[in-house]
Amino acid sequence: MSGKEMDKTLVLIKPDALKNSLTGYVLSILSEFHTGLCFAATKIVQVNRILADEHYAEHRGKVFFDPLIEYIMGQSHYPKEPNKQRVIAIVYLGADAVKKVRDIAGPTNPHVAREQKPGCVRALGTIVPLKNAADEVVGTRMDNLIHASATDEEAEREIKLWFKPNDIPPFLRSYPVKQSDLHYYYKGKKLFTSHEPGSICLLAPGDLAWESDLDTLQGIKNGKPGAQSLESVAAKYLINEIREV
Ligand code: GTP
Ligand code: MG
Repeated sequence: MSGKEMDKTLVLIKPDALKNSLTGYVLSILSEFHTGLCFAATKIVQVNRILADEHYAEHRGKVFFDPLIEYIMGQSHYPKEPNKQRVIAIVYLGADAVKKVRDIAGPTNPHVAREQKPGCVRALGTIVPLKNAADEVVGTRMDNLIHASATDEEAEREIKLWFKPNDIPPFLRSYPVKQSDLHYYYKGKKLFTSHEPGSICLLAPGDLAWESDLDTLQGIKNGKPGAQSLESVAAKYLINEIREV
């Protein structure tokens, strides 16, 4: 496979889709038979705040940001059942992957989706009014069942945010990778190259990493941080991690 055949996109089956048992439906409608796309990687993730915040970084500061973070973390749909707070993350691969999946997902707003594109996945979603303690409506949450990358650039950022290189079979990876020649540890939003009590080891010498992540870590270590944040690299190494960092 090469060129367009290697287009990739990230799909998240969100907590509302899991709660409504729509996983099978989403997998069917996105299947190779219907879309020509195939799986490159998948994982079940209990979304922590760092990952949620990085994934939706472009929406920081907006009125719907906090409810959006609670939604993707599964706290809105399963407030008392942490064991059910999860999403399914899938990398799909194939020609026009981004456009094909966005078309099937449909418009962001489920009401618009129902009006403009009956039959799309998000037409099955809902809009939830959010109330304050005095029972007044103070905002809304769009429960739209799936996430789909909007552009090839967004797909690359998101796939590297959710997946390590080794989560994807070698022939299906297309972003450059590199071996780490250092230990990198993370604790309290800081990076260390030797072990700190309570820290989590992100990478050890010989481990394969996205080249862009290693560039970021190297820059931070040398006191020259770039555009990419430490959290955007660390997040995938903290997936399904239960220790506090
Ligand atoms: P994703 O695939 O989830 O990224 O959706 P999108 O690309 O169609 O939309 P966008 O990235 O702009 O927004 C991300 C998520 O924020 C959406 O899926 C919605 O849940 C939520 N959202 C976006 N715009 C609004 C808004 O105007 N109001 C509210 N309440 N939520 C919004
Ligand atoms: Mg988006």
